[in-house]
Amino acid sequence: METLKKTLNQLVGSCLTEISGIADCNANVITASKPEFGDYQANGVMAIAKQLQTNPRQLAAQLVEKIEARDEKLIDHIEIAGPGFINIHLSNQALLLRADIVQRDSQLLIPATPEAKTIVIDYSSPNLAKEMHVGHLRGTIIGDCLARVLERQGHHIVRQNHVGDWGTQFGMLIAYMREVMQDNEDLPTQLADLETFYRAAKQRFDSDPAFAEIARRSVVKLQGGDADHLAVWKQFIEQSLQHCHAVYEKLNVTLRREDLKAESFYNNELEGIVKALDAASLLSVSDGARCVFLPEFSGKDGDPLPVIIQKSDGGYLYATTDLAAIQYRSHTLNADRSLYVVDARQSLHFQQVFAVARAAGLSSENISLEHIAYGTMMCSDGRPFKTRSGDTIKLMDLLDESVSRAFDLVSEKNPDVDKSSRRAIAEKVGIAAVKYAELSKNRTSDYIFDWSSMLSFEGNTAPYLMYAYARIRSILRKQELAIDKYQITSLNEAEERSLLIKVLQLAEIVEMVADDCFPNLLCNYLYELAVAFMRFYESCPILKADQALRDSRLSLAALSAESLQQGLDLLGIQTLEQM
Ligand code: ARG
Repeated sequence: METLKKTLNQLVGSCLTEISGIADCNANVITASKPEFGDYQANGVMAIAKQLQTNPRQLAAQLVEKIEARDEKLIDHIEIAGPGFINIHLSNQALLLRADIVQRDSQLLIPATPEAKTIVIDYSSPNLAKEMHVGHLRGTIIGDCLARVLERQGHHIVRQNHVGDWGTQFGMLIAYMREVMQDNEDLPTQLADLETFYRAAKQRFDSDPAFAEIARRSVVKLQGGDADHLAVWKQFIEQSLQHCHAVYEKLNVTLRREDLKAESFYNNELEGIVKALDAASLLSVSDGARCVFLPEFSGKDGDPLPVIIQKSDGGYLYATTDLAAIQYRSHTLNADRSLYVVDARQSLHFQQVFAVARAAGLSSENISLEHIAYGTMMCSDGRPFKTRSGDTIKLMDLLDESVSRAFDLVSEKNPDVDKSSRRAIAEKVGIAAVKYAELSKNRTSDYIFDWSSMLSFEGNTAPYLMYAYARIRSILRKQELAIDKYQITSLNEAEERSLLIKVLQLAEIVEMVADDCFPNLLCNYLYELAVAFMRFYESCPILKADQALRDSRLSLAALSAESLQQGLDLLGIQTLEQM
């Protein structure tokens, strides 16, 4: 079943093509911006009239006639407004038919894509030298939501956790580990707090030139494959990955160990990348380093900007690894789309490596390379989010704090619920609040982290949506109507009708998120759905209605709960039956 929007776009578009003689007319159907404009509006007439140099209202009148002759059931009536807008009112019969279909098989609320693609999603990808901190939150959560959305549509998703595990910092860490091990101190205990360990190593590096020299030699040894250095490095990476996966588990993020494709994985490919760039005559030497200069990238002074591929000492760079990763994703994984959910501050890096990869033929012709950029998390005072002393905040600490705040909140609301149930509720609400706060903002803007708004039971928040869901479930629990008897039969009240239309629109929103990768659209939708439910619940009595009407309204409530639950699941938020 196509979405309402797509069906209308096809219907109106083909009618427009027929009357105008212009191929593939875009009907430009959108959800009506106001209820008085109907359910959907088609805005495509004006552009076509302009092309034909004809009066748009006349064209609109012709179009309406054509649509009415063609459409049998979907549309109840159409109005022409303003300079040639087409306002479409759907028929209740068509809405009920669709309701019936999704009620029988709720998987159809989000239909499978007719064209399954292979989509690589690079997300989270922390640097393993330190523990995950708040800067990793957005990418991890947004990436996971996109993976869930695209997977749900039936695409083949390949998650890639492109962790940093190979840079110069590891020389310092290995050197420090070897020193600590000599003193026979218990290494696992030391590594339990990676942040402290990193700081101690850094201090040693900064204050002792002899140690700094050992550290520099350690990187060379590591990258040259020295067995002893590799063994120490592996121990460190293992500890760090365990930290990451503890965070993923707590966050209900779907990244698994098998999704790991660390920078070091591409090590043996880097030489080949240099050769390929050379063969494509893209390399030049600048200050001893091998670089690619592309005419489309220049600095403020107009000088061409280099992409550095290999330093004068032979070392490779972040960009080199990314070129190898593009080759792998394109030619080995055969990706149709490759998404990079990474901080907006790396925009230039991605523009450059995408362009170099294309120029050198490292990527296939049709692969779509997309940087899904996101802004920085800020404090309410407009500065980057840090502890009072200016340190970065560990992600695990932030999540623990959210759960503990949620516990206080839940306890305040439900003092008589037993403690362990309140804890279980708080665990879900606390995590959901943090995730939803991130996902509900436009990802490209910086975003202000604020405990009180994310943990509020009012407004566009996770607690509000989870509460709305639990509320519907509790209504349904009190009723005896069997699931297989669910059928919506009444759309006489405006609130019933708009709630059902909202429910049916989940499919369109998911398509938009899949195309443009903005999870905030799904959040806004779910909030509007919950609001539409509350309005329905306030104005359409369920229990007091006669049997047939009561059953219809219960069925509508059940379908609303289903949509909410499926939508929240795509955000990686688990619902609760009771709150
Ligand atoms: N490790 C990098 C960082 O912490 C992010 C990696 C993103 N993915 C990529 N293919 N470059 O900034």
